[in-house]
Amino acid sequence: MDKAQNIAIEPLSKVLGARIVGLDLRLPVDDSSGDVLREAFSYYSVLCLSDQEIEADHQADFASLFGKVDRSPHRPTDNPNERQSTRGVMYVSNIKRDGKHIGVLPDGEMHFHSDGSHRENPYRATSLYAIKVPNSGGQTMFSNLAAAYDHLEEETKKRLEGLTANHVFNYNKTRREDIPKNAEAYAEHPLVRTHPITGRKSLYLSRLMTARINGLEEKESEELLLDLLDHCESPEFVYTHEWVPGDLIIWDNRSVNHARKDFPREQERLLRRFTVSEPGTSDDEV
Ligand code: SIN
Repeated sequence: MDKAQNIAIEPLSKVLGARIVGLDLRLPVDDSSGDVLREAFSYYSVLCLSDQEIEADHQADFASLFGKVDRSPHRPTDNPNERQSTRGVMYVSNIKRDGKHIGVLPDGEMHFHSDGSHRENPYRATSLYAIKVPNSGGQTMFSNLAAAYDHLEEETKKRLEGLTANHVFNYNKTRREDIPKNAEAYAEHPLVRTHPITGRKSLYLSRLMTARINGLEEKESEELLLDLLDHCESPEFVYTHEWVPGDLIIWDNRSVNHARKDFPREQERLLRRFTVSEPGTSDDEV
């Protein structure tokens, strides 16, 4: 029997996301199930598979269904002036061993962003697997940027045509005011992009990483950015995921932004992360 017939797809919310039921990722995923997953990924933007008891290799195999996965261990750095690599297997955690964090992005709230938008070739997808979660807070929020685009006034859509923005690596900062707006941009991307599979247009900007719209005066750029960011983050476009250990999520960085809610510092949080790159892109970008 075609194993894909055992897979059920249940929407997670009205705005985006689907729960995939009927797969145990300790076992290989057959071709037809892979096709079902890829199609669901493009259309729902966020997939969640619960109750998975998986090791890093299972997660990397799963992520590989969606593109190119770097399995090398992440290189953390203690130097705040050095940009961290965001590829490879990485632990998002506030847990410390011998006084040192065992992972990255340890504590607190994180503004909405799209992973790797500071790169010329941003990540296609990111996968997080929940190992330990706090009793309260620490939810990850996802904002549907295609729906946000669809709901813009026609006049605004026209104004955005052809505009590009500069994206900077800003993971260590939590305030938009700290973004170095006039610094050399790490990457320039169109403000509106078209999804290669669905053909849907979406906004491509984020509070954490988009510094400046090119060709506009600084004040005009910031006002337009803030209007668009508030629009993208309005509740009608956002799904909030309450993590349960064993949840595996993969999201499409081309069509959603994600953010994290604050959580009590004294509670441990541990998630394992793999990024998925566009096939054929270089591994040399930070
Ligand atoms: C991230 O932005 O990659 C981390 C998200 C989270 O910790 O929920």
